[in-house]
Amino acid sequence: MNVNFMCGLRSTFWSISRRKIDCVASSQVSYISARNSSDIPKNTIAHIYSASSQPENGRIYDYKPFRMRLYPKKDYHWCLCGYSKSQPLCDGTHKLPQYKCTLKPIKFQVEEEDDYYLCNCKQTKLRPFCDGTHKTLL
Ligand code: FES
Repeated sequence: MNVNFMCGLRSTFWSISRRKIDCVASSQVSYISARNSSDIPKNTIAHIYSASSQPENGRIYDYKPFRMRLYPKKDYHWCLCGYSKSQPLCDGTHKLPQYKCTLKPIKFQVEEEDDYYLCNCKQTKLRPFCDGTHKTLL
């Protein structure tokens, strides 16, 4: 399935051929301000991987989350460093020596198929999901 979406503030349209990943234009994202923090999903495998507890945050990629359709029992790797060109997911850029990056991506899964808001500011306390922290950064 070919999906076109706008990536971040750069107004760049990307075309990807990935089954089961649906992205929407960032201008269409409705933010989670009305949601309670208890409504924010949890990374069901965070306790398994030490990378989940890295204390540092990455650089700010964007000041709004990215909505993606995610599927259960599938591994995703959320970009923490903020350098990936495939935001909000990791593309391995953190390994390039010129970035001198020590941050690792956050491996995560979800419990049910749904649209999820993934953090793009990289400052969320509930990695990889947006917790509204981006609104305090502007
Ligand atoms: S984009 Fe909302 S907390 Fe990072």
